[in-house]
Amino acid sequence: MAQLWGGRFTKETDQLVYNFNASISFDKRFYEQDIRGSIAHVTMLAKQGILTEEEKKQIIDGLNGIREDVENGKLEITDKYEDIHSFVEANLIDRIGDAGKKLHTGRSRNDQVALDMRLYTRDEVLELDSLLKEILEVLLKLMKENVETYMPGFTHLQKAQPITLAHHMGAYFEMFRRDRLRMKDIYKRMNYCPLGAGALAGTTYPLDREYTAELLGFDGPTLNSMDSVSDRDYLIELLSAMSTIMMHLSRFSEEVIIWNSNEYQFVEIDDAYSTGSSIMPQKKNPDIAELVRGKTGRVYGALMSLLTTMKGIPLAYNKDMQEDKELVFDAIDTTKGCLALFTGMLRTMKFNDARMEESAKHGFTNATDAADYLVNHGMPFRDAHGIVGQLVLYGIEHKKALDDFTMEEFKAISPVFEEDIYDAISMKTCVEMRNTIGAPGKAAMEKVIALEEEYLYL
Ligand code: ARG
Repeated sequence: MAQLWGGRFTKETDQLVYNFNASISFDKRFYEQDIRGSIAHVTMLAKQGILTEEEKKQIIDGLNGIREDVENGKLEITDKYEDIHSFVEANLIDRIGDAGKKLHTGRSRNDQVALDMRLYTRDEVLELDSLLKEILEVLLKLMKENVETYMPGFTHLQKAQPITLAHHMGAYFEMFRRDRLRMKDIYKRMNYCPLGAGALAGTTYPLDREYTAELLGFDGPTLNSMDSVSDRDYLIELLSAMSTIMMHLSRFSEEVIIWNSNEYQFVEIDDAYSTGSSIMPQKKNPDIAELVRGKTGRVYGALMSLLTTMKGIPLAYNKDMQEDKELVFDAIDTTKGCLALFTGMLRTMKFNDARMEESAKHGFTNATDAADYLVNHGMPFRDAHGIVGQLVLYGIEHKKALDDFTMEEFKAISPVFEEDIYDAISMKTCVEMRNTIGAPGKAAMEKVIALEEEYLYL
């Protein structure tokens, strides 16, 4: 047991208590951020005349030495220490002696851990952002290549109207673009430095909090020392944003699973992203998509868990808040992993264009267009809807798509139909006539693609 306190205690901590309380097994993850924060802290202390230049130099050299030794494996972060803060401080004192004991001047672990977690999270927000950018790049490529790849659009998982693959991918583009905007927004709101808040009430040393904030790339210091040590809003915002990313990935996974099924065969997942069955030799399973869908629950769970942990905590710091770390780390790892794998699967997936177009043809997806044809010939929409309903019923009974009706068959149901009905309800016309902003028509789609490209690369 190596801990930073003990002066007022007469008994050793019970081993089980020590283990229960310790956080080193998971907070060792931010050793680099802890050292970065300490270097900024002592730089500020020296500028304020609280430490000498010599002490500052010794401490910074010692901290850099610890970082290097951890990185090259010479120094192992072991469970002997209560937390990462104790590990760094104890090792510093071992290395440089008395000067090391001055590192913690004007600081508490409460503001220190608040800083470390922010620095760590801030780096991860940037990584999440770049993973989101990657999936957007794959989606944009698919959009550009598929403005004329026809497929059925669904509502209630029933074929509804024809769309294009570009249009379908474009829907996901919008979702992940909003996810990126959320990352940007979280970054902006969280980017204030809590260091200098002390345990809860600031310190009596003349700290220059603005300077520390600047050294660490923050937009400024936080403005209330009690809030600084007990605010976990930014983690809740991040968990919420990651839950939304996972929800998007999960919906997309569900579609891939359906599209990959024998019944649909809209896509084929690359061998590298599929798995087999131990008993059924014919199987090629979409396990990656299923796992992404499954892991969504973990990330939602982390959000609910932290919200619940935080709800009854009086100001300011309480140990409950240590629970934030494992939850957030796991949720970040999960979301990053899922984003990376899903992107790889999407990039290598083959779309079966012929099959998708065929499917769009055989589901009366042009029924709305047949009704619109009658409306264009002067019939009220409600009457047209009824007549096309009769066409569909006839088609189901005779196993015929509308495109395959003879002119006599059309005329038998309504004399308004003329030869040009075939062109009016062809797949191409059905899609190409839809050119309002955001619709699947080629002209509309190309305008959107140009805007998305500008957003992504400029
Ligand atoms: N391990 C603690 C945490 O993660 C660090 C802060 C400890 N502060 C304290 N007063 N015990 O929250």
